[in-house]
Amino acid sequence: MFVSRFAVVAALFLISSFVLGCNGQLTYTFYSSSCQNVSGVVRNILERAQQSDVRIGAKLIRLHFHDCFVNGCDGSILLDNADGIESEKDAGPNKDSADGFDVVDDIKTALENVCPGVVSCADILALASQISVTLVS
Ligand SMILES: *[C@@H]1O[C@H](CO)[C@@H](O)[C@H](O)[C@H]1NC(C)=O
Repeated sequence: MFVSRFAVVAALFLISSFVLGCNGQLTYTFYSSSCQNVSGVVRNILERAQQSDVRIGAKLIRLHFHDCFVNGCDGSILLDNADGIESEKDAGPNKDSADGFDVVDDIKTALENVCPGVVSCADILALASQISVTLVS
């Protein structure tokens, strides 16, 4: 009896998910009220970084890709090694090849100054990638 009720609830959940769609959609306007100038701050830092490193846009897009590759886009590529834990940053595919961390740090610092605790590190990688594409085109 329990199993069949569970099956009915699960089926209803699945059907409603398909009919109603997901609520976790991505949107360009996510920070429009909580950090209005997020794009301006990121763009400003990327424009400065690009003057000394023309490849910074490509490096940041690669960081975003590798961040999303392991269990979704969560900023985990930015973590350092810990006791007994090898970070993604130092794992084989990324060690000595993933780059641009200093610019990500600069962006995070600038955003913390204008909107403390609002913009996530994963979103910084996504925003930096989006803006990098516009800077090199
Ligand atoms: C957004 O931030 C950039 C970089 O700090 C700054 O140059 C620009 O004036 C800001 N724009 C607004 C509308 O605050």
